[in-house]
Amino acid sequence: MIRLQTPPLAGLFALQLLLAISLAAQAPVTRGLLPVPRSVEWRQGQLPLDTTFRIALARSDPRLNAAAGRFIERLVRRTGVPLSHLVGHDPASATLLIDARRTGTAVPALEEDESYTLDVSTSGVALHSATTVGSLRGLETLLQLYESSERGWSLPAVHIEDAPRFRWRGLLLDVGRHFEPVDVIKRNLDGMALVKLNVFHWHLSDDQGFRVESRRYPRLTRLGSDGQFYTQAQIRDVVAYARDRGIRVLPEFDMPGHATTWFVGYPQYASLRGKYSIQRKFGVHSAVFDPTSEAVYRFLDGFIAEMAPLFPDSYWHIGGDEVEDWQWNSSSHIRAFRRRRRLPDNRSLQAYFNSRLAVILRRHGKQMVGWDETLHPDLPRGTVVQSWRGPGFLIDAVHQGHPALLSAGYYLDHIDLAEDHYRADPLASDSGLTAEQRNLVLGGEACMWSEHVGPETVDSRIWPRLTAVAERLWSPRSVTDVDDFYRRMAITGVALEQAGLTQASALYSMARRIAAPTDVPVVGSLLELVQPVTFGQRVRLQHTTQLTPLVRMVDAARPDPPARRVWHDVAVRVAADHTSAGLAADSLRIAFQQWQLFAPAIEAAAARSPMVDDGVLAARTLGQLGHLGDDALTRLLKGDKPDSVWVAAARTQLEMARQPQGLLRLVVVDAVQVVVDAVSGRPVS
Ligand code: ACM
Repeated sequence: MIRLQTPPLAGLFALQLLLAISLAAQAPVTRGLLPVPRSVEWRQGQLPLDTTFRIALARSDPRLNAAAGRFIERLVRRTGVPLSHLVGHDPASATLLIDARRTGTAVPALEEDESYTLDVSTSGVALHSATTVGSLRGLETLLQLYESSERGWSLPAVHIEDAPRFRWRGLLLDVGRHFEPVDVIKRNLDGMALVKLNVFHWHLSDDQGFRVESRRYPRLTRLGSDGQFYTQAQIRDVVAYARDRGIRVLPEFDMPGHATTWFVGYPQYASLRGKYSIQRKFGVHSAVFDPTSEAVYRFLDGFIAEMAPLFPDSYWHIGGDEVEDWQWNSSSHIRAFRRRRRLPDNRSLQAYFNSRLAVILRRHGKQMVGWDETLHPDLPRGTVVQSWRGPGFLIDAVHQGHPALLSAGYYLDHIDLAEDHYRADPLASDSGLTAEQRNLVLGGEACMWSEHVGPETVDSRIWPRLTAVAERLWSPRSVTDVDDFYRRMAITGVALEQAGLTQASALYSMARRIAAPTDVPVVGSLLELVQPVTFGQRVRLQHTTQLTPLVRMVDAARPDPPARRVWHDVAVRVAADHTSAGLAADSLRIAFQQWQLFAPAIEAAAARSPMVDDGVLAARTLGQLGHLGDDALTRLLKGDKPDSVWVAAARTQLEMARQPQGLLRLVVVDAVQVVVDAVSGRPVS
């Protein structure tokens, strides 16, 4: 039996050597900045960091005081330099002067001015902004500027002028299908602040759970939450935490569909009376509010009256997606209502429901937001439409005069590559919109639907890929270099980990449960070379429900892990110049040989720990890939061109390796493809 412990580490070492050499050669203009600011002018010189570092605020402001304290803590943790935690007001003795002219809006708002300028010279730093929130954004930029060298830590001299491209830059987190405790929410808010996102869209109710305490309607959580919900004190705490970081909190209570858990305690408001229970299955369910009932509107008015002060944002999301109309069609009183009101179809009935909701919301000081199914000629003006079924709905919405948000292209739960999200732009150059229509495009939101995530895995599904959306929504449209983005995403990943996010560490902590102690290194190494299947594949292959444990290899694996690009780039280097490939070719050969050792090691590990079984198929296919890669590389280096039979067999094998291996997908197929293409005379991609 082969015991594989040291080879992966040796391979990694060769790789790190290669990366260290290649990184030393570069000095990219964007350095570690993410999102890239609107304008950056690098200057000569540095400002060294030492124990004399002091912060002064031009004006006292509790939010800025707290932010300055957090800044110092983070800087100390990052650099190991002991710094004074005192924040003063005397610019003359300060290294960093923070000058926010106004506190800005009391509650973070869409119209908040987030701009700032940052000047680093060899004698000090000046951060100027119109509002407190602009200074919060500038402090994040400043932390990203610190660099280390053999002389210690310093800031490069620079002049930065910055402001966001879009006003609305959000993350939706679905806590309905799987609940997320407050500490998970808070660390994700920290991550959002780090990359200048400003809207936390909290999807708080769905068929699988109702997550907010209502004192007026206590059966909502008593019967609809499995005991997993936020108390009102916790909601206030999260909203205040977000506000401290310049983040708005947008609540969503999905209706009229995705509404089963409202009816577990209050079945009288459903279109069909009966007994309802929490749904364990995912998908679209038939329970919908009765839009013809005045009692429903009184109930929702009471509910929103109670919730409105808890969520001080001036926007309120009503959901409105995926309304299954079976209950409406099956109910004679609803059919009669439609006839009486001359509502030609159920979409018009939903529009009627939405217009009633808009009136209630307006009475409570809220502006309505809905998914793109709410788009209808009767949709009240000013309603924000969030496009998820395709970017065309965003265009339709602004053509009809509605403010709009893009989420199509930003579905983190689909398990796409970060670069796919990076390429989705709310205002593509060919959108054909007038200036006025373009102004209605407020921005976008990434969506983290939670069919397949829980507290242990949600960070790795959100981060670091969310940084792609953060940059797209903040930086100028011209910032599109994918390679440079990935380089900076890796740097930002470390800062996110420092902020407490677990996207990197969860893989190993989960591997320690999945495998016996001796097998953790090999199982961990395999997990670095795979990613989960897509959302749709997982639904089909695993038939997931809310009760499916989220503790297996598919859960420990990360979407779009670094190994994909690292090995692809090494292979491209070898293919481009194999006559002098040297270290790159050696690294690649070591990797191909190691991949062939995984199958026996994973099979042995599976015999000790059944959950490792999930990796056996991937390990076997990885071995075959390694064999093919090794063969192709040997031929390439020898100048030995293979015949057409070899090429055809290689292509078939690559195609099969791209298919799901159980619930895992290998991420190194592209690297082998590059070598196969090179040896068979195809242009290298
Ligand atoms: C959605 O994904 N149903 C908005």
